[in-house]
Amino acid sequence: MQTELLSKGYIKTIDYSWDYKGENTKSYTHGIHTYPAMFIPQVANRILKTYSQQGDTVCDIFCGSGTALVESKVFGRNAYGIDLNPLAVFLAKAKTKPINPEKLRSEYIKLLYIIANIKDGEIKKPDFNNIDFWFKEEVIVALAKIKEGLSRIKDEDVRNFLTASFSETVRLSSNTKSGEFKLVRIKKDKLENYSPDVIGIFRKKTEANIKGMEYFYNAVDRKAWTKVIYGNSAEDNGIKENSIDLILTSPPYGDSRTTVAYGQFSRLSAQWTDIFEDPNKASGVDKELLGGKASKTLRHDLKSYYLEDSLDKIAGRDENRAKEVLSFYVGLNECLRQAYRMLKPNKYFCLVIGNRLVKQVRIPTDLIIAELGEEIGFICEDIFIRNIPGKRMPLKNSPTNVVGVLEETMVKESIVVLRKIS
Ligand SMILES: C[S@@+](CC[C@H](N)C(=O)[O-])C[C@H]1O[C@@H](n2cnc3c(N)ncnc32)[C@H](O)[C@@H]1O
Repeated sequence: MQTELLSKGYIKTIDYSWDYKGENTKSYTHGIHTYPAMFIPQVANRILKTYSQQGDTVCDIFCGSGTALVESKVFGRNAYGIDLNPLAVFLAKAKTKPINPEKLRSEYIKLLYIIANIKDGEIKKPDFNNIDFWFKEEVIVALAKIKEGLSRIKDEDVRNFLTASFSETVRLSSNTKSGEFKLVRIKKDKLENYSPDVIGIFRKKTEANIKGMEYFYNAVDRKAWTKVIYGNSAEDNGIKENSIDLILTSPPYGDSRTTVAYGQFSRLSAQWTDIFEDPNKASGVDKELLGGKASKTLRHDLKSYYLEDSLDKIAGRDENRAKEVLSFYVGLNECLRQAYRMLKPNKYFCLVIGNRLVKQVRIPTDLIIAELGEEIGFICEDIFIRNIPGKRMPLKNSPTNVVGVLEETMVKESIVVLRKIS
């Protein structure tokens, strides 16, 4: 372990024991659906075990697909999850609802039989813009059959669980390049010979998911409850003041437009399932998330030396980018306030966060969180630095916003440990 002393007395500890390189991150129901920038379950688990006890109530204020909630359910913590992306809320619920694997298997077999017997004339193709751009005709027919089959399943929990593998199948059989979170179409010459086996993909995914559910079902602590809230963590979502024993979360790295486009990632699933109220508005989610709307001015009242320094440097290069960056931290500060309100005195708030690069300026979000948190009434007890060996997030993107200009954005992230002073 190596430590680094920074101004204002903050200490960063480089601790590779947080890396968990090569470990299985798909146990239980963790692997049922990909989601951008997921928690490494081992990191969530270690935070849970270090800073809370069995029977405690914890909360992940940016729960995404629910990694921390799954770990909480297995290790006996009641858990709230909050997210503003309907796909995240759907997945977090599907991953944390134990379903008897025998029942799941028999419903799945029935579903395969139903799908095999649906005639082409019985299906209803979804009606959304550009469907032919993103899906081949035979893929549309096969997906529509699965969708029709799913709609005939009566048990809601079973239907939701199988809809998660359908949602993955939609993405994997679409004309999008694999390994991308943003929607990028396969090149035209490759597309000609592209012929995904839709039913095969669905079967493989579902069978693996049922195994994951079996493992989860047998491991969960039946006394622990999970509640997933669709809401904005910058606002009061009805969780009582001083009621939470631990908040653990991994916030977005910055605005969705230039970091991870959660809404865009969710678009194809939204168009093929009933997860979103208005499927055509999935990409619009990105504007609602932290940093989605740029601040009008660079004036603000956030007390953070590190933020001010970064904003000055960025504004010197591009004032509009600085306004976008500011809006993210204004929103994040509101989330920290809400977290403070919910947390019991003396309890911990752990945030796993990466320090992103904007206009060649590395923004120390970990230290900004420490400063903003201390203004609100937390003390920063530790900042651990870990490598990101397996996290599913783009290591390279275009922070300059110039197409084709790639830069390494993040290979490390920080675990900021705040404690609410009583
Ligand atoms: C890094 S991801 C969390 C991933 C999660 N740890 C997992 O394992 O799947 C950040 C999440 O924050 C959510 N988010 C962004 N702004 C939000 C806000 N204001 N309120 C609630 N959730 C928000 C995004 O939708 C995204 O799901």
